[in-house]
Amino acid sequence: MSDVMEQVLAEARAAIENAADLDGLNHVRIQFLGKKGSVQALMAQMKNLSREEKPAFGQKVNELKGEVSRRIEEKQKELAELGQKARMASEKIDITLPGDCMELGTIHPLIMIQQQLEDLFLGMGYKVAEGPEVEQDYYNFELANIPKDHPARDMQDTFYIDPNTLLRTHTTAMQMRELEKAEGQLPIKLICPGKVYRRDDDDATHSHQFMQCEGLVVGEHITLADLKGTLEYMASAMFGSGRKVRFRPSYFPFTEPSVEVDVSCPFCNGKGCSVCKGSGWIEILGAGMVHPHVLEMNGFDSEKCSGFAFGVGLERVAMLKYGIDDIRNFYTNDLRFLKTFNRFD
Ligand code: DAH
Repeated sequence: MSDVMEQVLAEARAAIENAADLDGLNHVRIQFLGKKGSVQALMAQMKNLSREEKPAFGQKVNELKGEVSRRIEEKQKELAELGQKARMASEKIDITLPGDCMELGTIHPLIMIQQQLEDLFLGMGYKVAEGPEVEQDYYNFELANIPKDHPARDMQDTFYIDPNTLLRTHTTAMQMRELEKAEGQLPIKLICPGKVYRRDDDDATHSHQFMQCEGLVVGEHITLADLKGTLEYMASAMFGSGRKVRFRPSYFPFTEPSVEVDVSCPFCNGKGCSVCKGSGWIEILGAGMVHPHVLEMNGFDSEKCSGFAFGVGLERVAMLKYGIDDIRNFYTNDLRFLKTFNRFD
């Protein structure tokens, strides 16, 4: 190589060596290998040489060009590796730091009761039905044998949306929907848990929104004894084994006969205590045999089939089961209250 070439090579080596980053190195490339760079300038000198000198000179410049390119490439690799190492060092995560603890919620006590009832009845071959909370007067009242001027409408202060639409006052509305849907096909075996609404003033035992679970069985030869056995089984599962149930005559427009159902007190086992007010019994639900007129209105032949139905308040069950003395606890969302119900209980 000529002196000039040696000099260009030495300058290039030094510049490459000193390049601090990839940007800097790119500048060096342009400075030496670019169109207006030093190597190109050497090439331009070819035209001043004789024919014989040209090939050797050209070869040397090409060697120089190759050498500079190779060194730039090496440096580029080196700088890229350094950059990656620096990035890894700066982005290092300390995996020994304690993490943020995600607080797990619990299942609402009313949903726990609902799930227990669903498990219980699914196990007995029932299906679980669901339906609208904004309901038609027709299903909530008319089909349940409670026509417009019936005094029983006063028993249930209703939130009306318009004269034909209301917030359902009981899950019995779903009983009617399911009876209608069955189109006379037997048997029917279902429960329907859900929210219901009444224009009550809220206090320790009343809430304008609460939950019920409706039960309905229709088939051939269904009797009050079937109802009693079913409710005994349910009471024992919910409140502890060996619960007895007792029927007291009552009145509901959609059942005949109608009964009020008491469970032997789970706290004193029927001996009498402050919870059962000394009677040994606690009232938990209303029930009865589906009124023949209700069956007929829904397209069933009441001579050929019969059914029982019941409606249980979930708050009532939860309050008894967990010793809660104020129904408002279920709806005020106080975490201290809700956290006492462990999801794994
Ligand atoms: N619907 C009644 C209420 O809300 C409860 C009830 C009573 C439901 C007797 C029934 C039944 O299915 O047969 O007070």
